[in-house]
Amino acid sequence: MNPLVELRKVVKDYPMGATSFRALRGVDLAVGEGEFLAITGPSGSGKSTLLHLMGALHRPTQGQVLFEGQDLAELSVDELARLRNAKIGFVFQQFHLLARLTAWENVALPMVYARVHPAARRERALAALARVGLSAFAHHRPNQLSGGQQQRVAIARALVNNPKLLLADEPTGNLDTRTGQEIVELFVSLHGEGRTVVIVSHEPEIAARAERIVILRDGLVQEERRARG
Ligand SMILES: Nc1ncnc2c1ncn2[C@@H]1O[C@H](COP(=O)(O)OP(=O)(O)O)[C@@H](O)[C@H]1O
Ligand SMILES: [Mg+2]
Repeated sequence: MNPLVELRKVVKDYPMGATSFRALRGVDLAVGEGEFLAITGPSGSGKSTLLHLMGALHRPTQGQVLFEGQDLAELSVDELARLRNAKIGFVFQQFHLLARLTAWENVALPMVYARVHPAARRERALAALARVGLSAFAHHRPNQLSGGQQQRVAIARALVNNPKLLLADEPTGNLDTRTGQEIVELFVSLHGEGRTVVIVSHEPEIAARAERIVILRDGLVQEERRARG
């Protein structure tokens, strides 16, 4: 498998007043094209930081992040934004939907930045909502939807530009167990369609649905194991 994303000796420091905090302490990790990876580990171990680096949201303090073989350090801020918009879909624990917009309008937002023709946006947003089982809710606003439905809208929004890579940070963290399982099964089926999926979760039942599990501790990969794959 060719790596889609690769981290080489990645260190990430966060400034803390006069000093700094080292959140990642030299991580080597490659995610294969078409792989389904889970990242797990205790709170504060660096999971979100790692996901943000994979998604080109942050730059490493030291080391390299490569996407499709290209070193992201060579890209400008604008180029990184374009890459994220075209190739990466993000899903977060807090769904981050805009309250004033309907479900389909939320899903359509990434297409505005991608300069998709306005006439095509609605149709593509509706198709993405259909993919996550929410055709009947296209005109609902977030506060008219359950938590599980809001997360499905967020997943449709992440999918709408047809990204190669889907990154999810604790996507079931705000959901009850059964709804969380439905959401993880949705990620399993999106992976089955050929997408590369990386999901952060500290819930073992969620992580177990991936092909490979990477366990972080104190900013380092502590252990890797095969899961269902
Ligand atoms: N913006 C920040 N400024 C300072 N410290 C941060 C920042 N973001 C995260 N950290 C620290 O870095 C460590 C790793 O954080 P994070 O990647 O969010 O871990 P996780 O997602 O595994 O809980 C934690 O100790 C956290 O407090
Ligand atoms: Mg986190």
